[in-house]
Amino acid sequence: MKTTPLHPDFGVEVHDLDLDAVTAEDGYAELRHLFDTHSLLLFRNQPLSDAQHLRLARLFGPIENRTDDPTERLSPVSNATEDGGVTAADALHTLNLIANQLWHTDSTFLPVPALANLLQARVVSSSGGETEFVSTRAGFKRLPEETRERLRHTGFRHDYKTSRGEIAKELTRMAIISKWPEQHWRAVWPNPANGEEALYIASHVCAVDGMEQAEAKAWVKQLTAAMTPPEAVYTHAWEPGDLIIWDERATMHRGRPWPYDEERTLVSVCVTARDVDGLAKMRVAPT
Ligand SMILES: [Fe+2]
Repeated sequence: MKTTPLHPDFGVEVHDLDLDAVTAEDGYAELRHLFDTHSLLLFRNQPLSDAQHLRLARLFGPIENRTDDPTERLSPVSNATEDGGVTAADALHTLNLIANQLWHTDSTFLPVPALANLLQARVVSSSGGETEFVSTRAGFKRLPEETRERLRHTGFRHDYKTSRGEIAKELTRMAIISKWPEQHWRAVWPNPANGEEALYIASHVCAVDGMEQAEAKAWVKQLTAAMTPPEAVYTHAWEPGDLIIWDERATMHRGRPWPYDEERTLVSVCVTARDVDGLAKMRVAPT
């Protein structure tokens, strides 16, 4: 597969590949190697149907489902309404989308977190709406060894209400946000395919082992800043048909504002992490 780099730290664009032609037997191993190596893969002009998008995601693992309905489906990341309009800028739905503008990793607050997100643009706004990414593998390497060693022996607790509460307290009372108890993960996720370590951090972190609240909050803020200096950021300005697959174990991302009176629709499929992806070692042993 022909690739070109997107950023010195991570990410490649993959050229001349029909994603719908990739199968478990033909192409997936190479794609997975690129994913494990580069943490972010961009494919342009790949308008996939929902079924094609789900089929591609399934190659990576089980499809994440946050609902009680077992039907596999895409998650729209969209302000569009059924009557053809958009949700108001101050509506809770819009505020929940705006909370994605905090640096985060998806699904760290779920009992089983995500390995990957496969995100595709369908409708883009006239300006803004980019997604920014950083490598927390490169970011972890930039930290002093003393900090890295401390992090290797630290656990973070994650709660969806933490990031949503930063934007609007009302969001934390919504069932789709408050339904999970805190999750407890190690702060460093080593990739079993290549041994590369990455900081596993998100705007959802609510507590750090052995630290009182104010100290924990300050440290998480400091670590997030250390992961996200401007020169570490890859900014993707979406075109319809673009698809990005990123490694949730080794990156952080955030959305950027757009004119909220315009539609912006991306569709997402998260793939759930498994022990083969290093999940079992991420669980902090009960004390
Ligand atoms: Fe996200």
